[in-house]
Amino acid sequence: MSATGADAPAGSAVRTVLVTGAGRGIGEATARRFADAGYLVGAFDLQPCAWAAGDDRVVTGVLDVTDPAAWEAALEQLTARAGGALNVLVNNAGLLYGMPFVDASYEQDSALVDVNVKGVMYGCRAAFPYLEKASSPVVVNLCSASAIYGQAEMAVYSATKFAVRGITEALDLEWGPKGIRVCSVWPLYVGTGMLEGVNTAGMRNMGVRLTEGDVAGEVSDLAEQTRRPPSGLLGRIRGAVGRAVHRPVGAQATAIYLASQVGPGRIIRLANKRLTS
Ligand SMILES: NC(=O)c1ccc[n+]([C@@H]2O[C@H](COP(=O)([O-])OP(=O)(O)OC[C@H]3O[C@@H](n4cnc5c(N)ncnc54)[C@H](O)[C@@H]3O)[C@@H](O)[C@H]2O)c1
Repeated sequence: MSATGADAPAGSAVRTVLVTGAGRGIGEATARRFADAGYLVGAFDLQPCAWAAGDDRVVTGVLDVTDPAAWEAALEQLTARAGGALNVLVNNAGLLYGMPFVDASYEQDSALVDVNVKGVMYGCRAAFPYLEKASSPVVVNLCSASAIYGQAEMAVYSATKFAVRGITEALDLEWGPKGIRVCSVWPLYVGTGMLEGVNTAGMRNMGVRLTEGDVAGEVSDLAEQTRRPPSGLLGRIRGAVGRAVHRPVGAQATAIYLASQVGPGRIIRLANKRLTS
């Protein structure tokens, strides 16, 4: 594994975050935001992150999220520089193929499941002992508004994000009593390289209205909220809403998410049919 980055001062209370898929897009914006907030950042991807070269706030290296041994090595490398604890894990790495289901291949199906699902499972499993040692630990999984209802022309991607939703909900229940918060963010379309060449009806109908910075802001807000619970009556009400396990990002995803919580199944299906075909 190649890596760069300076050691944290011995015995310091520096907070650590590991972000996967941090080479570009939402992962890069998230890693940069945590670095600006004073965290020691582990920014990992299939290649060391070029943007982090020479930045002593950032440890960068290679982490293929489908490889359990690579997870162990990256976590050890990062946390050795900050007392063996990991405060925040951001499972961000992901792949998307947007096309009619029958036009994709078995290999593409497998790649999506490997990165989007196994990558999150492996990350949570490998990070657990490091999270257990940290104060106010939190896992933020990059889910998607496509985990609300199965999306036409994104069937496998949508299915993988339903799996991320399931892992998040289950570990929230299992790890909550251990003091580890597990939550997820649910953006709709975000203007990153992931959407290059994608031209689904859903994307045309709903447009691309979010930036990577919008999503990074929600991820860092979840980490800070876990660290500093809001005070005062209004703050506690806002905090209770914000402490939901899943956080839709942006007005469109929020409206669709809330409608799905209260609307009858047939209406939700009809709305999704209209939006994605
Ligand atoms: N862009 C969107 O519209 C959108 C919407 C909702 C959710 N998301 C989710 O947000 C996350 C980030 O998406 P993005 O738009 O920034 O994508 P992106 O394609 O811009 O970046 C993804 C990063 O993941 C890395 N990656 C791919 N396979 C990997 C592997 N095996 N191990 C480690 N890293 C790997 C890539 O190298 C890349 O740097 C994904 O989980 C995605 O599903 C994106």
